[in-house]
Amino acid sequence: MKETQKQFQIELSKYLAEKDFIYGPEPELYSPIAGFYTYGLLGKAMKNNLENEIRKTFTKNNFFEIEFPIISPEIIWKASGHLDGFNDPVIICSKCNNSFRADKLIEEKTGIIADSFEDKKLLETIKEKNVTCPSCKGRFELKITRHSLMMKTTIGKNIVAYNRPETATTTYLPFKHYTNFFRGKLPFTVFQIGKAFRNEISPRQLLLRQREFTQAEAQIFLSKEQKQNFELFCEIEKEELLLWTEELQKKEEKPLKISLKEAISKKVLKNKAYAWSIGITYKMFCDIGIPKEKIRLRQHWQNEKAFYADDAWDLEIELNSFGWTECCGIHDRTTYDLTQHQKFSNQDLTVRTEKGEKIIPDIIEIAFGIDRPFFALLDIAFFKREDAKRTVLSLPYQIAPIQIGLFPLLKKDGLPEKAKEIRKELNDFRIYYDDSGSIGKRYSRLDAIGVPFCITIDHQTLKDDTVTIRERDSLKQIRVNKKELPQKLGQFFVNGFK
Ligand code: GLY
Repeated sequence: MKETQKQFQIELSKYLAEKDFIYGPEPELYSPIAGFYTYGLLGKAMKNNLENEIRKTFTKNNFFEIEFPIISPEIIWKASGHLDGFNDPVIICSKCNNSFRADKLIEEKTGIIADSFEDKKLLETIKEKNVTCPSCKGRFELKITRHSLMMKTTIGKNIVAYNRPETATTTYLPFKHYTNFFRGKLPFTVFQIGKAFRNEISPRQLLLRQREFTQAEAQIFLSKEQKQNFELFCEIEKEELLLWTEELQKKEEKPLKISLKEAISKKVLKNKAYAWSIGITYKMFCDIGIPKEKIRLRQHWQNEKAFYADDAWDLEIELNSFGWTECCGIHDRTTYDLTQHQKFSNQDLTVRTEKGEKIIPDIIEIAFGIDRPFFALLDIAFFKREDAKRTVLSLPYQIAPIQIGLFPLLKKDGLPEKAKEIRKELNDFRIYYDDSGSIGKRYSRLDAIGVPFCITIDHQTLKDDTVTIRERDSLKQIRVNKKELPQKLGQFFVNGFK
């Protein structure tokens, strides 16, 4: 890993704690355990805003949300395949006995992406590249063991159960209800936003690798024919994005900039439903404020795919702290999951197509942990401040945890009373009221936590009811009548500051 990246990670994590975005690892007050974090007083507000934006995208695309219990009995995870197949390769230091995830260790120490390596190749690489223990510099035992990521628990006295490792499986289980709701007409489109748990062996990448995290996963249940002729595809086919196929990666060539339409005609993507899923995901990440040039789609290698996936592409974001990082996966899970649950539950999970054929539907999923785009937005916003003369966190307006700063210029002459009057008219926004210190200091405090707009009430306000609105990034100020405030600000949040 580059030294500049490491330095940036340290600065960013310090900043996020100081500014109340992220606390931890938790429990900070006792002995912290890696992989558990608190979303702090500003972080939680920002995460809520981000979840709402994601929810809006899914809802706009006709997905309906459910909320399934987090804990399920063993049989569910036996059926899904997670109990047998969801594990990481672990290597142990023969000197200090610490355990590490072998593929991530190789990546960290050598820059080689080792996700797709089999155990034998992992061991060879560790030996060849002389990878030593990050804790004590000792040598590793030349053996890989498999560590289950499933977080076990007990229901009541003795029912063995697990915290879900993904929301997806729990979105498949109420399948029969969807048949009823969607009146038997595929595609069924359902999503879930909620907690998931992975018992990672040594999580060491801040919010990117947590043991408890929040997933947002959307599932499309559809027929094989609908996969090929997905009607909504034409709405998005012109979208151009960077696609990095397995072949290009192997040849060490750059990703291809290509429209989704071309990607289908050149068979870079297998079917229109899958291409549509990639397209709406890409648009969603752009809409939440990730710059286009920092996004690429990388195809999984044949031997890298999760056990349930027939095709898989990751949406990756280029982070200042960790380089190109997986932030979302789009998976073609075929009929794998429903077939398994039909077998294990002994229930009929078929549906009839328009032609009257009885089928188990295929499933395409858009899957990600919200923690990753959350972190990406802060990583990008924090970096920008480095080359500026002032400390400003340029978060996208709709994601910023506090939307408006409200400042009476002085603590006298009726200005605070006027400001409080105005506050009542801005109920739709989260407001930070501040009447202490110089106006410059008040601006700086709020710039540093990403507040997009500050409103100042001065003596002129008392005369003509006008106030100034000052925008965070451009520093531009405009004067408007207080009556216009809610509408003007509302417009800025939708269309930008114009
Ligand atoms: N549902 C896919 C994943 O958790 O990555």
